[in-house]
This record gives sequence, structure tokens and C-alpha cells, in this order.
Amino acid sequence: MSEQIEEIIKKMTLEEKVGLCIGASFWNTTPIERLGVPAMTVSDGPNGLRHVPDMSDPDQRSLPATCFPTASCVSSTWNTELVQQMGEAIAEECIAQNVDVILGPGTNMKRSPLCGRNFEYFSEDPYLAGEMAAHYIEGVQKRGVGTSLKHFAGNNQEYQRFSISSEIDERTLHEIYLTAFEKAVKQAKPWTVMCSYNKLNGTYASENYFLLTQILKQDWGFEGLVVSDWGAVHDRVASFKGGLDLEMPGPQEARVKASVEAVRKGELDEAVVDESVRRILKIIFKAQQTPKGGEFDQEAHHQLAGKIASEGMVLLKNNGLLPLKGQRKIAVIGRGAKSPHFQGGGSSHVNPTKVSIPLEELKKTASDIEFSYSEGYPKGEDFRQDLIDAAVAEAVAADAAILFIALPTYIESEGYDRQNIDLTNQQVALIKAVAKAQPNSVVVLNNGAAVAMQDWVEGVAAVLEGWMMGQAGGTAVAEILFGKVNPSGKLSETFPIRLEDTPAYINWPGEVGKVYYGEGMFIGYRYYDEKQVPVQFPFGFGLSYTSFEYSNLKVSQQSFKDIDGVVVSVDVKNVGQVTGKEIVQVYVHDQKCSLRRPKKELKGFTKVELQPGETKTVTIPLDFRAFAFYHPGYHRWITESGEFEILVGASSADIRQKVNVNLESTLVLPSLLNKESTIAEWMQDPRGKEVIAPIIEQMISRGPQKDIKEIEDTEGGIEMGTLEFVKDMPLLSVLMFSQKDLPLPPEEIVQAMLDEVYEA
Ligand code: BGC
Repeated sequence: MSEQIEEIIKKMTLEEKVGLCIGASFWNTTPIERLGVPAMTVSDGPNGLRHVPDMSDPDQRSLPATCFPTASCVSSTWNTELVQQMGEAIAEECIAQNVDVILGPGTNMKRSPLCGRNFEYFSEDPYLAGEMAAHYIEGVQKRGVGTSLKHFAGNNQEYQRFSISSEIDERTLHEIYLTAFEKAVKQAKPWTVMCSYNKLNGTYASENYFLLTQILKQDWGFEGLVVSDWGAVHDRVASFKGGLDLEMPGPQEARVKASVEAVRKGELDEAVVDESVRRILKIIFKAQQTPKGGEFDQEAHHQLAGKIASEGMVLLKNNGLLPLKGQRKIAVIGRGAKSPHFQGGGSSHVNPTKVSIPLEELKKTASDIEFSYSEGYPKGEDFRQDLIDAAVAEAVAADAAILFIALPTYIESEGYDRQNIDLTNQQVALIKAVAKAQPNSVVVLNNGAAVAMQDWVEGVAAVLEGWMMGQAGGTAVAEILFGKVNPSGKLSETFPIRLEDTPAYINWPGEVGKVYYGEGMFIGYRYYDEKQVPVQFPFGFGLSYTSFEYSNLKVSQQSFKDIDGVVVSVDVKNVGQVTGKEIVQVYVHDQKCSLRRPKKELKGFTKVELQPGETKTVTIPLDFRAFAFYHPGYHRWITESGEFEILVGASSADIRQKVNVNLESTLVLPSLLNKESTIAEWMQDPRGKEVIAPIIEQMISRGPQKDIKEIEDTEGGIEMGTLEFVKDMPLLSVLMFSQKDLPLPPEEIVQAMLDEVYEA
């Protein structure tokens, strides 16, 4: 293939080359018939196929496809196999509809619950998000269809998404905002990666050499093509130089012309264009290998969508009312029961093949029960006391009430962010009134991201987070409420108590073209842990109709080398009455580190099914990266020898077993000392410590006091000149003060010392 591609490149004119690198239409690349290069068709994504064959149709209606649950629900399954199956099903639909590449998955971090597109993203945790993205990609690509991992990178809000600069420091960028992409790229090799609209630290992602070329292509070895988000290119020549291979959508004749001219004038190296052409041709021909057309099994995919929904829904509260049993009459309240809210707004919007209606599914699942229905709240955000009164009357006349509370559909969408994390005033008043009148009240939520619950959660018997549950979600809800399915989802994002408690609150959504990621690495549970801020429901939390006991935590070795990693095993027992699935989470805590690290970080997980009374041993491997952190001084991931705590639990706030291990770092890192290094830094550096030792001795012998603690009680304050006083000063500055006693100028002394350090 690569020879054939090189032959084609040789025959291409410059115009053809540049033309190939800019789309021909909204969804197609530019074909070159004379050289046998066909057009490639791409389409949205990610929670199902949105293929619009005719963009001139004013409605631009996409062909019917299965609407799977959105990413928040998918990731709450923590079931990588299921995500892979979803990917395979989506690929089958792409094949049937002649689509070569699906524009998904999206794996941006949930920095704030306000991001309008959070429903399309997996998690606040990069490890979980990366695993989900990787398995989605593996599923799709296994069937010979490509994916587009998006939106790369730092696209964590919709506000000014076309222009804002996400200002992210190097360490945070690598540890939080790039990790999920890195994992997915290295593990699953997506055919394409889509760059985001925003700027990253001042440079558009579409022109960002550091991001697209250095990190993605060089460091991570990405071999596919980089496509722009739709309309993300501002300057095609700059984007070629940055590493952007394919601009979408097209046509863009003026840009083709400008790029051709730039090559002719010597401003753009033709080799750069050739490289993009090479990458694009490779993917086009790869896509060609999968014959297109045919049908897909709509019913089987609907069932799969239901299965994913039922594993992704999270039971947040249950006083024992669920699973429902023994009721004769149940009041079903809320518009969401009849017109379900099952997907988000924007480019991910799928035209479903069919939709399960929760009310009907409840009736089918429990045919012996009498169900009443009342609307509860209007479309939109008007306040209607009459609807609340009618709902209360129905609830009182029944043995239990199920409230379907769906956020108005326009609240969560691509293109803009949420203003708050609240349900509507009407919905809150409705829940409170019904729960007061009917203690057996269950709330089923439909939303794509965390909502606040503190006003009403105490009063209700149970809460099921149903997410944007996809077209078969109605069935999933009924099955969970009546115990046909034991809920097994756990939150892939923290549910805070108040918006004001959230990590990015003060730095949201940015001003004057920039948004500072001031909370750094501390997003999601990393923040709540560190600040000890109470939350409504923690990351990783979810209830089941059974319970699980953890015991016998073991590690393959107590002491190990970073490159070898370690394997963790733990016994999990189902101690309840029904079969259930438990999500076992492994977090790592570095006991001591030269840089600040979060209290714990998710580094592994597994989902295990257990019959009542059954015990299984689960094993979870932890590799180099489970212990490493990104050091901005070395510009790389490093490990430091020392003790780590391995925490195994049922959620980030429910650690059941712990064990300490010793890691030996195999890295031999260069010194970071320089002319500005402080005395403390010299003393921390293994080689620097030896070199500076004579100077320290002299200072101690000369200084007025040896140790600040000894002089704390002296009246009249502390004199200058203690070691404590100078330790955070650069050595050079300290030497400047005693220049007259020195044999050489301070600069020369420090330089000589640095030479000694670096020679070693
Ligand atoms: C969205 C992408 C989407 C593309 C094509 C953009 O506005 O950000 O996620 O794939 O449009 O519809």
C-alpha cells in the first residue's frame, strides 16, 4: 500500500495535493478520479450515527440510526467490553450507510459541570475517559470503520469555543487534559484525530505544532490523519505547518490557492503537504477495504442500546423501596415518562430508529400494576402550580410515585454552556410536594451532567440517575425499577452539592479571550479530596440491590521496579440475595513526592459479576504510568522511588482495602540545577548536595544561628542570615551579599559548581 501511495503522490500536481487536504463538501474529502483516489465520507458521532446524505435538504435530516446513550451514561457502565460492542454496532451502521469514519468519540475532560457538551464526554478522570475512548475506538475499527478522537485539546467549555485560549500549565495539560487522548491514541490507534476549535496557550489547536506534531505525531506515534473540527481552520498555511492534515468542511477554493502559492513562493515546504497527503491517502485506502452497503439489525442494536443504558444508570439513593414490589397502584409523574429526554443537542443528535417510552415500558414490565400519569411540569421553565397539585393528588391516591424529571432539552447542548446545575424551579417544587405527600417516591433523572439535589434529595425514597439514556432507555428504567436488572452503574463524575463548590468555579468561563485553568490538576474528585469539600455523590459511587465485601488485598510484590509495575488482586464477595455486578476501583496515593500530587488517582478498575454468595478474585495490573507524574522540569513523566499506598474501593470515597508498596525508580534523571537554583534546590539535588556542602558548612559556622527553631523564642525578632532565611534564595544571590570575602566573582563560583554537577 505505501508503495502505491508514493506512486500516486509522485503523479499528483501541487493543486491536487493541496486539494486533497481540504474537503470537497460537508462530509466528503476531495476525490482525484484520474489517479483512482475516491472520496471518503465522514459523519457524526459519537453516540450513534448522524449521517445526512443530502446537505441541501433544508431539514438536513439524518438517516435513522440507533441512538445509544450518551458518553456520561456509557462511561458510568465502567464496562469496557460493552463500550466495545457499542463501537462495533455503530460501525455496522456506518457500513450500511456508506460512512467511512465516525466523528467520535469525544474524550475531553469534564472540568466543570457547566460545559454544555459534558454529556458527550466520558469523565472528569483521564484514566477512565481514556479507557472508554480506547474501547469505543477498538470496537468501531475492528469492523473496518474509522473513528475521529475529538476535540484535541483543551476544549472544555462551549463559551467562545471558536476563539478562546485555554491557558493550561504544562503539567496539568499532560496529567489531566492530554492523558485520555494519549491512552486512546496509543492503545487503540484511531484513524483520525480531530483538533478542537479553541486556542491552546495562545495558538489555535488547528495551527498548534506543539500539540499536533510534537505531542500527537512524534511523542505518541500517531499514524493517522489530523482533521480540523468543522470550521476550525483560520489560516491553512499555518495549519499545514502545525500538522493539520485535512481541513473540513470544504470546498475552500481561496485556501487551496493560497496554499499552492505559499509552496511556490517557498513559504510552505512541499514536503509538509506531501506528508499530509500521505496520511490522508493511507486512511482513504484503508476505508476502501471495507465494502459498504447492506442493512443493520435495528432490533439487536436497540437491545444493545438498552443494555448499555441499564448498566450505565446509577442508583444514587435507595431507602429500600427499590426494586418496586407489592404496589397495586403507582403514580407516574413527569413529562419525561411520555416524551423521554434521551440525547443532547448539537452535532451528536441522532434520528433514532425507534424510542422506548418509559410509561409504556413500565406497563409492559409490571402488567399487574395500575399506573396513572400526570404531566407534573410543562415544557420549558414556566411555573404551573396546577400541574403540581394534580400530581400530588395522583401520588396520594397511589402506593408509590415515580417522578420522571428531565432537564429541558435545550439546557444541555453543543454551542453554549449551562448557566447553573439546577433542575427547574417547577421540578424542584414538584419533587418536594410529591415526596411530602407520598413517602414512596422515586426520582428518575434524565440529564447529561451533574445536577444539584440538596433541596430535595433528603425527602425522596430513591433516586435513579438515568442520564441521556439513548433510545432504549425507557426499557432500562422499567427493568431497573422492578428489579429485572440489578443496577450496576457508578458515577464517572462527581455530583457536587453546589455549583460554588466546583473546582473551576472562579476561573469560569474566562474573560478577554482567555480561560485560566487555575485549579490545575485538581479537577473532579482530585479537587474535592484535596480541599475536603463535601459532595452530594462522589466519583465512582453507585448502589446495587445487593452488597459486596472486599477482602484479601494482595500485591504481586511488595517492592518492585517502576518498569515492571505490580499486580493488585482482591477478593470480592456478593453478600446479598441477588446477582449483581461490582465495579472495583484501584486508586494510587504517592506518600511523598517532590511535587504536589492529588491525594489519590484512579489507575485501574474492573467490573465483575457475582451470584449471591459467590466470591471472585479480581486482578488489576498497575504499570509505570500508575505511579508516574509529569515533571515540567524534565518535560516528561517520571517516577520517584518511595512508598505508595494502593487503595481499593467501591468509590473514590469508599476505600475498602489498602496496602503499602515500595517503588524503585529506574530513571536516571539529569540534574535540573541552574544559575537560578535556590540553596534548597541545591541541597535536594543528589549531586548538587555534595557540591554545595562546603559552602553550607561555612554558612552554618559563620551564621548567627544554626537553626531557626532554636531562635524562635528570642525576643525582639529573628536576625537575618540564618540558613532558614536564605534557603529559598538563589545561591547566586546569597553569594552576592558576601562578595568581598569571596576568592572569585559569584557568577564564576556558581558556574564552576554547575560544571562540577554536570560533569559527574
Ligand atoms: C463539532 C464536532 C462535529 C462537527 C461536525 C462541530 O461543530 O464540534 O464535534 O463532529 O461539528 O458536525
